[in-house]
Amino acid sequence: MIRPARLPLKTVREYSELSREELADRIHWRKKDLNAVILGHNYQEIEIQEVSDFLGDSLALSQEAADTEADIIVFCGVHFMAETAKILSPEKTVLMPDPGAGCPMADFVTAEGLKKLKARHPEAAVVTYVNSSAEVKAESDICCTSANAVQVVETIPADRPIIFVPDRNLAQWVIDETGRDNIIPWEGYCHVHDDMVLDELEFAKEDHPSALVVIHPEARQELLDRADVVTSTSGMVRMAAEHDQLIIGTEKGLVDKLQKDYPLKTFIPLSKAAVCGNMKANTLAKLAWSLDHLRFEVTMPENVRVRAATALQRMLDVSGGWQAPTEEQERLEMAGVRSEG
Ligand code: 13P
Ligand code: SF4
Repeated sequence: MIRPARLPLKTVREYSELSREELADRIHWRKKDLNAVILGHNYQEIEIQEVSDFLGDSLALSQEAADTEADIIVFCGVHFMAETAKILSPEKTVLMPDPGAGCPMADFVTAEGLKKLKARHPEAAVVTYVNSSAEVKAESDICCTSANAVQVVETIPADRPIIFVPDRNLAQWVIDETGRDNIIPWEGYCHVHDDMVLDELEFAKEDHPSALVVIHPEARQELLDRADVVTSTSGMVRMAAEHDQLIIGTEKGLVDKLQKDYPLKTFIPLSKAAVCGNMKANTLAKLAWSLDHLRFEVTMPENVRVRAATALQRMLDVSGGWQAPTEEQERLEMAGVRSEG
């Protein structure tokens, strides 16, 4: 490929006037110059997914962040994900195209609030969903993601109480799966998943009676009870490879991705309203600007980072640490196709 001579532009607005092809091309060359890698969450817009070097769920992305040999990580997701990358790779520069892309669920709990709850249950272990700030992780014993929450909780002795923050729905799912009666959930939730309702599921099932129902564990218990499978976004990606029809209970970006990857299959969003505005804050123009201007850098106090890293590293150890790519993934990589988390 011949490299076109192009100067950086000043503002995001100027980038947004460029064509999608030119933006993708700029991103490609700038990434090479910087030895940067783009990590994209499964909920990103398709145009961001297409320029991502690695797409995945929170677990796969944190494993990739811990292992990458790039000097710069540009994180297309929300703030806690970029922060997780920085916690695990402190020597690298971690950039976010839009620092305003937060996670309202993560905002439900603060370090101060968690400290107060810990004081009331001094014997409890603290399991914290990665959808949380670095300060909250620093107050925790171990982290989990939607892909490994049950596995993480099962490492804690059955008679030891557990404070589980911040997602009450994920906590409830873990209670149902493990049968434990000593989990103290924080009353947080993800509005995108918590807003999905039974009526929507019933309508989708009426229209597609033979479709399998797969739902993210951030949804309410009454929905999870009716799911054929409850799994993380990457679990859904794996299921899409094996099934022709799925009703999918998660953010719409994932459904768009699957429909694009498998145009002949039928993927029905459980709710058409399930859109995470924060995830959609990232655009190709902001990404190109971010790479050219090395903004916005994610930082945190080192004492917080070190304590948060302990909780995250424990989780990665439980999940088998970094997973070597399968033969199929290696073959796709060699053919220039991105790997999936
Ligand atoms: P996953 O880890 O399943 O990708 O979920 C992250 C998230 O934010 C879901 O809302
Ligand atoms: Fe946070 Fe929900 Fe958006 Fe996931 S979908 S990033 S949990 S607000």
